[in-house]
Amino acid sequence: MDLKSHINREKLPLHIAIIMDGNGRWAKQKGKPRVFGHRNGVKAVRETTEAAAELGIKYLTLYAFSTENWNRPKLEVNALMALLVETIRSEIKTLNKNGIRLQAIGDISKLPPRSYKELQNAMESTRDNDRMTLVLALNYSAKWEIMKAVKDLAQLVEDGSLSANDINEGTFANALSTKGMPDPELLIRTSGETRISNFLLWQIAYSELYFTPTFWPDFRKEDLYKAIIDYQQRERRFGKISEQVV
Ligand code: FPP
Repeated sequence: MDLKSHINREKLPLHIAIIMDGNGRWAKQKGKPRVFGHRNGVKAVRETTEAAAELGIKYLTLYAFSTENWNRPKLEVNALMALLVETIRSEIKTLNKNGIRLQAIGDISKLPPRSYKELQNAMESTRDNDRMTLVLALNYSAKWEIMKAVKDLAQLVEDGSLSANDINEGTFANALSTKGMPDPELLIRTSGETRISNFLLWQIAYSELYFTPTFWPDFRKEDLYKAIIDYQQRERRFGKISEQVV
């Protein structure tokens, strides 16, 4: 079945966020080291980015490295960082050719200097592209992001440049690292796990959640189409009743 033709182009989500999970288990099933799974995960990143851009999705956010991921074996952390540098470097041309802007959310200043530099360079080089924004969540956790926003706003209040009364959903959203981005309408998690794992807690208040048993390295364009079709069949009520939404 041609899944792509079943997508309603009038009802596309503006922003899709993905928790890429299952690289380690995918590799283990094949009797390979975990890093082999991450390497093959890059293929899925490429396919998904291409599919999203082709469809006209405006924002694609990928959870690439959480603040908790530093607790993994050093060898794996180093391999992930190296893979990041390597992938960003080799993909800049393709990103620019396809009008894709690269952005990052998370405490990227704590990344190893080489990864940080490569990332800054890629963000700078793609900053004027406007077909789609690819957001990498790197050294990201939602609790870190929310704490930071609270501290930054508290500082403004302390300085006298903001009144506590003027803090609302808008000012708070603007203090988050996703400032200026629409909230994701669709959040996908691969590998069969049904957790949020400290990802975009504020921004997914009304997101539709889609869980698939597919391990991330096996995720292909058709899997993204399936998720979008599923999303388009749902009724988004935002707290209202069905008749009000129609
Ligand atoms: C989760 O699988 C995956 C990650 C923590 C890293 C994702 C990284 C990539 C796909 C490669 C690099 C990405 C970019 C954007 C260049 P897991 O290791 O938690 O798998 P498991 O749950 O089976 O152990």
